[in-house]
Amino acid sequence: MSSSKTDPASDNTSSANAHDYRQRIKHSTEKATKYQHRKAHKHRKEMALIERALQKLDAPQSFLDAPCGVGRASVMLERKGFKVTGVDLGEGALQAAQAAVKAINGSTRIERADLEDLPYADRSFDACLCFRFIHHLPSDDLRDRVIVQLCRVSERYVLISYLSPLSVTSFRRALAQRFLGKTSVQYRTSLATLERHFQRQGFTLLKDFAQMPLIHSLHLAIFERHSPTSDPQ
Ligand SMILES: C[S@@+](CC[C@H](N)C(=O)[O-])C[C@H]1O[C@@H](n2cnc3c(N)ncnc32)[C@H](O)[C@@H]1O
Repeated sequence: MSSSKTDPASDNTSSANAHDYRQRIKHSTEKATKYQHRKAHKHRKEMALIERALQKLDAPQSFLDAPCGVGRASVMLERKGFKVTGVDLGEGALQAAQAAVKAINGSTRIERADLEDLPYADRSFDACLCFRFIHHLPSDDLRDRVIVQLCRVSERYVLISYLSPLSVTSFRRALAQRFLGKTSVQYRTSLATLERHFQRQGFTLLKDFAQMPLIHSLHLAIFERHSPTSDPQ
């Protein structure tokens, strides 16, 4: 099921075609390497945010990291003992992720897959992590399509990051757009809107984590299936 409503909290100022986000897929090794070498303190804070969320989960064993990008969260999850599959569409990202898994002598599977149409059976994983992706999607329909897929392949949990409109960084970005004419390819989503997407799939909010409440826009929300052990309807 999909909604054609636009999130009033989103800064959907771009007139870009709904699928233009795909132009930013990390096909080239150069793009992937650039992402791999983003600021170390940023990387550490982001991994710490995921680690905080992991503590709320009731012993999942398998994780789908979608999209995995260059594999940074996949590697962190494998190190914590989870059985991990990482998927992405970018060739450069996939190669870098495979190299990252090899570097730790890991067994994480890195596969090419489209988040709009995941090639896995229903409830294949105990949990899905979707980190730093949904804010690239310019429409509610696309967000819904991806969330439907994440919920479908997850037995119990979906951990999803989003950019909240209620933060100093979001406010500054909105001002820069309005008064300096800066264009943004990031789309803010309110937690209430995300909850509606997940409710339609039978998931409810377990907990929402802010990287820095009201200061930084990055949040990570955990959604949990209402009745993980029941048969699909
Ligand atoms: C900002 S990166 C985040 C990657 C990873 N979660 C992380 O935090 O390091 C977004 C990734 O999404 C991938 N991507 C974009 N559209 C995709 C799609 N439809 N299906 C799968 N991957 C996609 C890009 O290639 C890129 O590697």
